[in-house]
Amino acid sequence: MDEAHANYLSDDGLISREIFFDSDIYHKELERVFARAWLFLGHENQVPDAGDYFTNYMGEDPVIIWRDRGGKIRVFLNSCRHRGMRLCRTDFGNASHFTCPFHGWSYSSEGALTGVPFLKDAYFGDLDRKKWGLYEVAKVESYRGLLFANMDTDCISLDEFLGDLKWYLDVLLSRTLGEIEILPGRQRYRCKTNWKIAGENFAGDTYHLPYSHGSLFRVDAPLLNPVSYMNSPNLYSVTTKHGHGLCGVSAAGERFEADLKLAEELGVEAREYVEETKRRLDEAVSREQADVYTLAFGNIFPNFSFNNFSALRPYGFYLWHPKGPSEIEAWQWSGVDSEAPDSIKELCRKMFQRQQAAAGIAGQDDTENFEQVTEATRGVVGQSLDFNYQMGFGHEDKIISPSKLPGKLGPYYSEQGQRNYYKYWAEMMGFEAGTSQKI
Ligand code: FES
Ligand code: FE
Repeated sequence: MDEAHANYLSDDGLISREIFFDSDIYHKELERVFARAWLFLGHENQVPDAGDYFTNYMGEDPVIIWRDRGGKIRVFLNSCRHRGMRLCRTDFGNASHFTCPFHGWSYSSEGALTGVPFLKDAYFGDLDRKKWGLYEVAKVESYRGLLFANMDTDCISLDEFLGDLKWYLDVLLSRTLGEIEILPGRQRYRCKTNWKIAGENFAGDTYHLPYSHGSLFRVDAPLLNPVSYMNSPNLYSVTTKHGHGLCGVSAAGERFEADLKLAEELGVEAREYVEETKRRLDEAVSREQADVYTLAFGNIFPNFSFNNFSALRPYGFYLWHPKGPSEIEAWQWSGVDSEAPDSIKELCRKMFQRQQAAAGIAGQDDTENFEQVTEATRGVVGQSLDFNYQMGFGHEDKIISPSKLPGKLGPYYSEQGQRNYYKYWAEMMGFEAGTSQKI
């Protein structure tokens, strides 16, 4: 690596492009970030009954999230202890046991090795089954239904990791009349980019909205179009400790007012629904939180992004799974309020399809950016340059929120979210931000 360009976050807001391509850095990320951070896995509602399971990844490690017979949610490495075969090869379902497709070892939902073919004849009874249960992930915790796990036994608690972000998540999680219902199935697609390019986009990139998604805002469909409340002086970028970032946080009730206006166009049922969600919020959270009403989009470090611009639009949950320095597998789910009228649920489902889904307008805009950024910067000369994250540099502390929002506030157009993201990334990697270092 050319030391002269190995900036991890220089004092003037520059970052070396090498951190998106270097295979040594990538392997250190798997060890130091993905094996040590709290990683989002899904929602508890995806496994309501004993035996329910779904599969996911933690870094490059495949995992099974499985509710055992006693009701406890456990997370196991999805790999047989005999010779490593992928144990569960379906996305979700219900099972009391899994039997390995290779030689037939069986495991219970508590992770115990319960069956070994020809145990007596082939192993002469010498195999101690107690020692060969599934590898269980050290820490599994939920924040109000959002399930996270951490491979590191010495990690900080999920509560501490989320910190001030919980204040904002409470807004999102308290506005529903019922539960967040994850719609069945998930979308997956490969994209030739580095995982951080996608994560930082949700952590702080409001700047791309009017230009990259410009065509979206010109479509004659009011629900698709949040342009009316973009770039308001009352919208903020928010960053919190541990690399988390939120974009377009409304502190003066603008998002509720915009929802009410849209709902009026849709009819009585929509209007009553929006009013009821606001009443729920008013009862459940502080006035300041109720005024926030929803979170436009954000990223929980390292690779869990989400969006929810409105009560009339879906909850979008996104994971950017690393698959090498320059490839990700994007996973996305959409969620609805389980108690919303059917017409609103259907609207949310359609909005997801049209916007952030793999073939949605915004999803395709973003994917194209992620891939072309990668393609256009991988060359020898391209690699010798830095990316520029200087927007709003030095202005982070100048915004005083009228309603004392927690975290650090920046203007709507700002790159403080990305700077905060890379600062924590550098910390987890053991790099000193602002320095040039060899790894
Ligand atoms: Fe699973 Fe052999 S690899 S039983
Ligand atoms: Fe986008």
